[in-house]
Amino acid sequence: MADKFDVKLVEEAKYYSPPPEYREKAYVRDYEKTYQAFLKDPEKFWDGIARELHWFAPWKKVLDWNYPYAKWFVDGKLNITYNCLDRHVYNHRKNKVAFIWRGENGEERIYTYHKLYQETMRFANGLKRLGVGKGDRVCIYMPMIPEQMVAMLACARIGAVHSVVFGGFGATALNYRINDAEAKVVITADIAFRRGKTIPLKTLVEEAIINAPTVERVVVLRRKEPKVEIHSGIEIDFYDLMEGVEPICPPEVMDAEDPLYVLYTSGSTGAPKGVIHTCGGYMVGTYYTQKAVFDLKEDDIYWCTADVGWVTGHSYILYGPLAAGATIFFGEVVPDFPDAGAFWKLVQEVGITIFYTAPTAIRMFMKMGEQWPNKYNLSSLRILGSVGEPLNPEAFEWYYRVIGKSKIPIVDTWWQTETGMQMITTFVGEKMRPGFAGKGIPGVIPDVVDKHGKPVKPNTLGFLVIRNPWPAMLRTVLKNDERYRKYWETIPDCYSAGDLAVKGKDGYIMILGRADDIIIVSGHNIGTAEVESALVSHQSVAEAAVIGKPDPMKGNLIKAFVILKLGQTPSEKMTHDLTYHVRMTIGPIAMPSEIEYVDKLPKTRSGKIMRRVLKAKELGMDLGDISTLEE
Ligand code: WT7
Repeated sequence: MADKFDVKLVEEAKYYSPPPEYREKAYVRDYEKTYQAFLKDPEKFWDGIARELHWFAPWKKVLDWNYPYAKWFVDGKLNITYNCLDRHVYNHRKNKVAFIWRGENGEERIYTYHKLYQETMRFANGLKRLGVGKGDRVCIYMPMIPEQMVAMLACARIGAVHSVVFGGFGATALNYRINDAEAKVVITADIAFRRGKTIPLKTLVEEAIINAPTVERVVVLRRKEPKVEIHSGIEIDFYDLMEGVEPICPPEVMDAEDPLYVLYTSGSTGAPKGVIHTCGGYMVGTYYTQKAVFDLKEDDIYWCTADVGWVTGHSYILYGPLAAGATIFFGEVVPDFPDAGAFWKLVQEVGITIFYTAPTAIRMFMKMGEQWPNKYNLSSLRILGSVGEPLNPEAFEWYYRVIGKSKIPIVDTWWQTETGMQMITTFVGEKMRPGFAGKGIPGVIPDVVDKHGKPVKPNTLGFLVIRNPWPAMLRTVLKNDERYRKYWETIPDCYSAGDLAVKGKDGYIMILGRADDIIIVSGHNIGTAEVESALVSHQSVAEAAVIGKPDPMKGNLIKAFVILKLGQTPSEKMTHDLTYHVRMTIGPIAMPSEIEYVDKLPKTRSGKIMRRVLKAKELGMDLGDISTLEE
């Protein structure tokens, strides 16, 4: 949050330079030159990248920009899975490893591009058998396993719109997402594994579909032995669905602007927003950034530790890496199980070369101590990445020194569910500045401005905006186009990201965190409104307000202020009940760590809770800098 804004740090300007060979061998050798080429002719820039991919029919125009609505690669026809699979299978990557997967118990599964291609087509034909076709919505609620990828790719193959729901969400959150997207089919597994325990995904789906009239079938991947029973009629086994189908499923011809998926992200007010991404521009944007930002080479083994249920997983575990023909590593694994060396052991065993994780994980590694990574040989690593929250200078230094042995570039990538692709970073050949993500990726024009859209002076706090449309941008919010327009109408003539930022004299941008009512806990984006409405749905609660409280490990913790109904009294049991209630409604990630019982809440005249006032009081600070930016 803005309370971490440190002028000294901004003025200090300390840099680290990567060894020169990074620049010499980089996919983008000269960042400035590439950026200038983009600025000179943005459409030509994106046209050139799109031509590296396969299209069934070419576009008539690169961009049709009718503020705030963009159409990219107008009338171009494609299928993203053709680019992720067929293109490689027909060329030299047929037997290349597409991914190596590991389970918590050490189980390993390896898919070549050819195998992934075949499995995708068979499952796609299975979905067709269930009556799923172009434009239908399919909800995927699965653990991080190969079948999750197959399910997503199969949807894209036949033009169905997937809505992946993070496996950590509970039944109510799942129900909302199923209903909002009007999903016809839900794909799940009996269980997920996490830290030696199992999570009963199928049971949660059963609960979530009680009030979900659009759901016709539930596909269940059965992992447990003996296999759990499935209810004939509505449920069907994942692999039974693939039995006896045609092995070939031609890719559906999609328009560049047809939707590829919907993904829910927390709103600052009200319900979660179903962000819509489309086929053509999203493919081009993720493909380019995967290659340019991670400097992907043919023999890299790339690991992004995010969950596929978040946009990071969509763009940089699945679509970006596969479109670029990478070898991916992923797993149903956590950083601290069975011990704090889990990730480093995998880096050594698998020979990971590119490692992309979140600041919250880095801070946890810092706490666990250097002895864990130092036990393993990490010399295969050549690029480190970070995403999800500000990478504070202390965490940067640690990551750089302990994991990177002071010679590996770190790409701190700023972007959002809405942007679809990475937007700001420091390219691998460029000097790095701790605390600062960097500059606009070629194709993107970021700026730091006041509420009128006027650039603020260097080294002062402002709002982060994007001045131009970019191919992977969200096209709308499902059933709420007004919310979409708000992104482009809050600050004149630009996309308002909702983050506070500072631009240094060198043009490097430091992102400080959300300016609105979203709390980022361990890299998960949680809307205050969602937690508040979960609390208020408890019979004892009259009113609730939720704030984020800075935490050295998780970035933020959730603190709730609760007004109880008349006749209810605060107690330890009450706190426990309310916390449990939020856990059951939204999921463990949204549980408040602290509940304070109050008699009233600070409000504006229009009745809007002033969370910022609560927060300032909690942290013992005055509103200073931030309040001047507000209405
Ligand atoms: C918000 C978007 C992008 C995938 C994961 C999160 C914060 C993201 C950075 C970064 C500082 C960052 C911002 C942003 N954020 N990356 N490198 N430095 N902050 O996607 O859930 O849509 O959250 O995450 O506040 O607005 P998301």
